[in-house]
Amino acid sequence: MTGQNVMGSDAKTLQDNTCRSPIGTRRRVRARRTIDGPERESVAIERSGRRVFKTTSVDMGASKVTVESVNQAVVRAEYAVRGPIVAKAREIEQELAECAKNGKPSPYGFDKVVYCNIGNPQQLGQKPMTFFRQVSAALDWEGLTQNGACAAFPSDVLTRVKNLRENISGGTGAYSESKGVRCLREAVAKGITARDGFEANVDDIYLTDGASAGCHYLMNVLIRDDTDAVLCPIPQYPLYSAALTLYGGTLVPYYMDEETGWSLNLDHLKKQTEDARAAGKNVRALVVINPGNPTGNLLSDENLLEIAQFCADEGIIIISDEVYQENIYAEGKTFKSMRKVVFEAGLDSRVPLASFHSISKGYYGECGRRGGFMELVGAWDAGVVEQILKLASIALCPNLVGQVTTSLVMDPPVEGEPSYELYAKERDDILSSLARRAKKLVSTLNTLEGVVCQEAQGAMYAFPNLTFPQKYLDECTAAGKVADAEYCTRLLLKTGIVTVPGSGFGQKPGTWHFRTTFLPSEEDIETVTVQLCDFHREFMAQYK
Ligand SMILES: Cc1ncc(COP(=O)(O)O)c(C=O)c1O
Repeated sequence: MTGQNVMGSDAKTLQDNTCRSPIGTRRRVRARRTIDGPERESVAIERSGRRVFKTTSVDMGASKVTVESVNQAVVRAEYAVRGPIVAKAREIEQELAECAKNGKPSPYGFDKVVYCNIGNPQQLGQKPMTFFRQVSAALDWEGLTQNGACAAFPSDVLTRVKNLRENISGGTGAYSESKGVRCLREAVAKGITARDGFEANVDDIYLTDGASAGCHYLMNVLIRDDTDAVLCPIPQYPLYSAALTLYGGTLVPYYMDEETGWSLNLDHLKKQTEDARAAGKNVRALVVINPGNPTGNLLSDENLLEIAQFCADEGIIIISDEVYQENIYAEGKTFKSMRKVVFEAGLDSRVPLASFHSISKGYYGECGRRGGFMELVGAWDAGVVEQILKLASIALCPNLVGQVTTSLVMDPPVEGEPSYELYAKERDDILSSLARRAKKLVSTLNTLEGVVCQEAQGAMYAFPNLTFPQKYLDECTAAGKVADAEYCTRLLLKTGIVTVPGSGFGQKPGTWHFRTTFLPSEEDIETVTVQLCDFHREFMAQYK
């Protein structure tokens, strides 16, 4: 940022920030607050690369930045998955670490914090897929495949790496095209075509730093002010509500029907849309999350078609979040993409569709590598697509490790290749274990008084419905506490298990839930389940 760019609101204070030094080299001044208080600042002056610290008087009064004076949309945005309960959990974790270091016993009734608040599989011990990591490691450091070291890698890994080296200009340390490296997008297109049976076009694919980046691009482009609205399922993954708050749009809820396994009620969706329009809202897009988070449901083919038809008829963009497409546990059920639904119904000429996928979920769980893609198909206006591409360009490019992993996830080893057997075993072991854990957790929750939990057909979460005793609800009201948040806080303090209150995702008024992942290992999930149940029984007994 040049001095010129930051001038305007407070030229007097800022005009010195970048200037010509007497010897003609550019000199940059970075203000650093000192213990003297807000009026005096220690400034670091970089002169020809040398940093000199000196103290000077700078009047910061008029430019003092406080929470009140920053972007209030950021202040208002909420993201419960990493909210105050998680902050408390981190504090407790620190305390436990201190106790362990000093040989003191835990002041809590537990020795470790178990993060069931977020779908972060590797944090809870899930192993990365060997093939993906082998390709990634060998691609990143050429030394691993030289001087005989290549014996450590199966031949198909080496073939992939050679091919990637030839096609990624500058390697994984160079910026790529903003949409992502073409050969990697081709691999993604191949995977989409194989999945849906409808040819994917490499130009429709944008590799992203996780699905979250795609959501931000779309919301940023679609929302002008609070008259622009987006239909979101409730409960919803709070990325959508947070992004709408950030960009100043309006969230129009459509409530999923819990009693029928979190299915969609088309009449209700229509009513919500009509009401929003009657209130002057411009309904621009509809978010569908399938499989659902936090609900763990899998939408029926009928529901998917209803959504596609409705959006086509109403001129509404479909944003289909399909990050859990590989996490299906319900017997006899398979994932069907919204893209396939739209193409099968011949609606692609009438409705714009954005689909998201991510390397954070599935059996790979590579959350930290930040990868995924957004595919734009159907009736998009070319000018809008150009603006989305501009946003991707402003971000330069998605990270290369994430791009490569995304391509591998969509184009994994196939039968007959040396890596296939291990790849398939690791994949199947992880998915079958997740299915067992989901079943175990949900069935045990359903044995508890006041708890009804729908089947986790997919994704990584159980979202039990809690009927709280009236005495407890009255106590919360009197204390100004949100009942499910208080329940999750007590659960944390008693057991070390971190969950997210249903209020963080939105829920039908008068209902209470919490969300927990079933990601702890098979041994750990036993303990987690027992602790959860013991806590709940004690809690209910307390309010009898
Ligand atoms: C439904 C849903 N969409 C998007 C994301 C974000 O995914 P990513 O890590 O790819 O940004 C998550 C993460 O939990 C999610 O549950």
